[in-house]
Amino acid sequence: MVKVRIVLVESALELVPREIINHPAVVKNARRRGKRPSEVLLDVSIHYAAMKNLPNRFKRGRPDIVHISLLNALSSPLNIEGYLEFYIHTIQDQVIFVNPKMRPPRDYRRFIGLMEQLLVTGKVPPDSDEPLMYIKTLTVKDLVKKLNIKHVILLSEKGELVTPDEVASLAIRGDTAIFIGGFAHGDFGREVYEVASDILAIYPKPLDAWIVVSRIIEACERKLKVYSFRLE
Ligand SMILES: C[S@@+](CC[C@H](N)C(=O)[O-])C[C@H]1O[C@@H](n2cnc3c(N)ncnc32)[C@H](O)[C@@H]1O
Repeated sequence: MVKVRIVLVESALELVPREIINHPAVVKNARRRGKRPSEVLLDVSIHYAAMKNLPNRFKRGRPDIVHISLLNALSSPLNIEGYLEFYIHTIQDQVIFVNPKMRPPRDYRRFIGLMEQLLVTGKVPPDSDEPLMYIKTLTVKDLVKKLNIKHVILLSEKGELVTPDEVASLAIRGDTAIFIGGFAHGDFGREVYEVASDILAIYPKPLDAWIVVSRIIEACERKLKVYSFRLE
């Protein structure tokens, strides 16, 4: 069966880093939630003041991007029909392997709780032999090798302009992965460019990651005739 592989790369999802663990804003929020500061997801809407001196801060602390993208991907007919493999690579070089049968929490607070549990224990549910999600420490290069990917299509507003249908034709080849940035501002790191075979844009202006995820999935659905139910 054809598999469409989408990787959300350098996603802005991580636990509060050591450097800011004692910042009053971090401590206060963690205490209110009954958690240790090191077990709380970094979120710019909560930790804005604490993040002021963090390196690369514009690319970090946006778990909502992963939430909306994951909902779009896993609820899609492409995934329901078994064509999709969706991976989340994080800015800290961890890769989340997602069971396509998982039903991500619709509620953002419940999503945050689940991802905190995942990043702390390495899998969810923690004692399951068939987890809904689990983590491995892998760079993008490691992931490309592990999945035996021969072509990486990097989507970027700076790439050569093509249609989502053209991207879909490449995505369904079987040995290809589509890379989409899981962050709000800034550019990809050097290693992402090094693994990219092509850099393509689907629109001449910047789009949110979840829109790009959903447009590529929709184009792949049409290409794979997911909606052809009527008998000819
Ligand atoms: C919000 S953008 C990343 C930040 C963006 N460079 C900026 O500073 O506004 C999220 C991701 O969506 C994808 N993306 C955004 N606009 C795109 C476009 N016009 N064509 C293709 N991919 C796009 C890229 O993979 C990008 O990394």
